[in-house]
Amino acid sequence: MSSELPSGVERRSFGGDDEWLTTRGEPVYDEPTDGEWRRWDARRSKLGAMFERGADHGLEGGETVLYLGAAAGTTVSHVADFAGPTYAVEFAARPTRDLLDAAESRSNLFPLLKDARAPETYAHVVEPVDAIVQDVATRGQANVALTNRRFLRENGRLLLAVKTRSEDVVRDPDAVLEEVLETLSEGYDVLETHSLEPFHEDHFGVIATPR
Ligand SMILES: C[S@@+](CC[C@H](N)C(=O)[O-])C[C@H]1O[C@@H](n2cnc3c(N)ncnc32)[C@H](O)[C@@H]1O
Repeated sequence: MSSELPSGVERRSFGGDDEWLTTRGEPVYDEPTDGEWRRWDARRSKLGAMFERGADHGLEGGETVLYLGAAAGTTVSHVADFAGPTYAVEFAARPTRDLLDAAESRSNLFPLLKDARAPETYAHVVEPVDAIVQDVATRGQANVALTNRRFLRENGRLLLAVKTRSEDVVRDPDAVLEEVLETLSEGYDVLETHSLEPFHEDHFGVIATPR
């Protein structure tokens, strides 16, 4: 486990001064490419922002991943580029169409049109995973992580994006985060938290391991 980038994720310059995260795969959202490498913009991805903030994500590449809140596949397509089997749960039908397109060129990406609050509806498909990546941005984010803990191997990692405004739009974000962490502690040991600013306002990255 390390906070280095996983194998299959590289920083590349695209000819300018700035360095960008990249993965190797078919483009998904008209992102710039450099040969086989596609730019992974941390402003469009909470997991990308966690990497940029130096989170101790524990990913080395090749892991089995359960991704909750896959939307149109922006981030999970990058995950499938460096991970092993990647199960992508999304409950809204519209973005799932784009997610299916992203999966077409990725034989290890398995879209599931399911509600992440009801893991029993996909438990027959998902094998034990090394990591859960969660970005659902809805109320009850800690409970979603708790209810999906059953899939996580003993030494696995939860990489959770917490959008504090989804829990409470008016309360202080730090106080909301504290409450989320307290609920999370019913099933996880929290290893680190990071603000995801300046990439994402009112978002925190939480790294945890099952207890
Ligand atoms: C912020 S977006 C995710 C963006 C995506 N993770 C990315 O970086 O490409 C949150 C997504 O979570 C989905 N979502 C919210 N609650 C969910 C649930 N209970 N089950 C499945 N998907 C959910 C929403 O429909 C939305 O597409």
